Amino acid sequence: MSKTSAVGKKHIPLVIGNWKMNPQTLEKAETLFVQCKKAMSSTGATVVSIAPPTIFIVPLKKLSQKSRVSMGAQDVFYEQAGAFTGMTALSMLKSVEVAYVIVGHSERRALKESNEVVALKAQAVLASGLIAVVCIGEKKRDAQGDYFGFVEDQLKAVIKNIPKSQVGRLVFAYEPVWAIGTGKHATSEDVQEMKLFIQKILADHFGRNLVNKMRILYGGSVTADNAAELLETGKADGFLVGGSSLKPLEFATIIKIADAYGKA
Ligand code: PGA
Repeated sequence: MSKTSAVGKKHIPLVIGNWKMNPQTLEKAETLFVQCKKAMSSTGATVVSIAPPTIFIVPLKKLSQKSRVSMGAQDVFYEQAGAFTGMTALSMLKSVEVAYVIVGHSERRALKESNEVVALKAQAVLASGLIAVVCIGEKKRDAQGDYFGFVEDQLKAVIKNIPKSQVGRLVFAYEPVWAIGTGKHATSEDVQEMKLFIQKILADHFGRNLVNKMRILYGGSVTADNAAELLETGKADGFLVGGSSLKPLEFATIIKIADAYGKA
């Protein structure tokens, strides 16, 4: 993909389904996964991943054979091993072939995960060789535009200690908290404006050439109805999809839209 614009090179879209703490049993998770697999075309111009609850990663990975779906994880701990009850290490995710690791989701930040912890997790993911999908986004918007400063702080905390050699595996997902699970997505103009803002900060730190290699996704009430506009006008490089990823036909339609955009 080599089309360029104010927001840089067009990327192969990346669509990640974040199942959060759903569904409630292994049986239901397997059924949902198979339905998603069947609903989507087996190939296309979009990279697709599903991040189920950690305990379902292994059985669903088996079901993902001969499909375009790679496995994602919703979170990870930054330490490598030892006395950390309840945590999952990167080596564990790697050993079951997880490709994408979401860190700093607002629902984790709401459980008191700080910018510093998110930064440690992002560093650990990148050091392990996996792809980090780091979520950033304001809780609310204000008329003075202070929310840009909020996003800037989240972003700078993460990029501070990331070596340039690892930037190719660093993805940001702009997810305004007010848009998550509310049915109120950000407008495509808002998404493009925030993407440019994020890219400017990244370019000041890493240099413009490297920034052009990075994807910036959008997340927050993405549906089959708004996906095309968020890609075309919003210039999102793909999506982190919550609620719609639990609906096989809706999720498959979002992927189809991203396929068409990626191919155009
Ligand atoms: P939503 O969630 O699509 O249900 O708004 C997005 C997310 O939390 O990543």
